[in-house]
Amino acid sequence: MTQRKKIALIGAGNIGGELAALVQRKELGDIVLFDIPAKADFAKGKALDLEQNGAVLGYDARVTGTSDWADCAGADVLIITAGIPRKPGQSRDDLVATNLPIIRNVADSAKKHCPNAFVIVISNPLDAMVYEFQRRTGFAKEKVVGMAGVLDSGRFELFLAREAGVSVKDVRAMVLGGHGDDMVPIFSACTINGVAATELISKDKLDAIAARTRKGGGEIVGLMGTSAYYAPASSAIVMAESYLLDQKRLVPTAALLNGEYGYKDLYMGVPCVLGAKGVEKIVELKLNDEEKEMLKKSAASVQGIVDVVKKAT
Ligand code: APR
Repeated sequence: MTQRKKIALIGAGNIGGELAALVQRKELGDIVLFDIPAKADFAKGKALDLEQNGAVLGYDARVTGTSDWADCAGADVLIITAGIPRKPGQSRDDLVATNLPIIRNVADSAKKHCPNAFVIVISNPLDAMVYEFQRRTGFAKEKVVGMAGVLDSGRFELFLAREAGVSVKDVRAMVLGGHGDDMVPIFSACTINGVAATELISKDKLDAIAARTRKGGGEIVGLMGTSAYYAPASSAIVMAESYLLDQKRLVPTAALLNGEYGYKDLYMGVPCVLGAKGVEKIVELKLNDEEKEMLKKSAASVQGIVDVVKKAT
């Protein structure tokens, strides 16, 4: 008999809570909702609410709220949202000063308690935070990824579907590169049930959609005063589910590059096959010159923040 999987959610805030609700409804395993000691009761209260919700809806998953890393021990999956979200006017990169010490603290505890976990980092600035997490833990690069591309692609797909007047179910899009204003929507990989989006949507409209996608997170921060949480949580669950169920989904994932696309020692969004071994394959798309140029710019932005992170003691 196999035991239930254990999914530890580091950060019991907005995204953490929604992650827990999704893990529960998809019956992926038992949940540990972890937060700092000052928020231990908050995490416990949220966990209790979720377990009671499970009783109403008929889900048996255990949900444990805690500020004790020992409760996360042996987790199969670790999803990290620890940190401070953006406020209106802030870029993701503005979060380095607050979120870097937090990710380092989380990395040290994860190394001690969850050495075998598949780790999905969501904390921003995403590419630099996941880079630092992997560097500090020394975990295998296949087992440490960042969530950004699934979310950015989802935003892109929504805007494309609305523009074309078709169901979101029929739209496929791919956004690569760093999770910042230089992210790279790949038009050549954009299809509506197999038909190239460029055949159905004008170049001007596509450019406007790409621009809105790049600012998609900021648009929500401007409206809500804090960052998005439903779509970010769902995006991370797509990745966690692919790992846990060995689905081998091909999804844009922030992965550590070792020469792919011409970059080394850098985390950036690229198409990856996610399965039981983690990142099982990085797929190299044939990019056109314009896309290559955009990826270069995006990589340079990510490298700039990583350099700051590397220098910070
Ligand atoms: N360990 C665990 N949790 C921590 C730590 C830490 N060292 N430091 C802070 N936290 C917790 C906070 O106490 C808070 O409960 O992380 C939680 C973050 O929750 P929210 O403030 O609600 O933020 P959320 O919207 O969930 O976003 C978290 O994801 O998308 C990114 O930019 C976003 O970096 C931000 C992160």
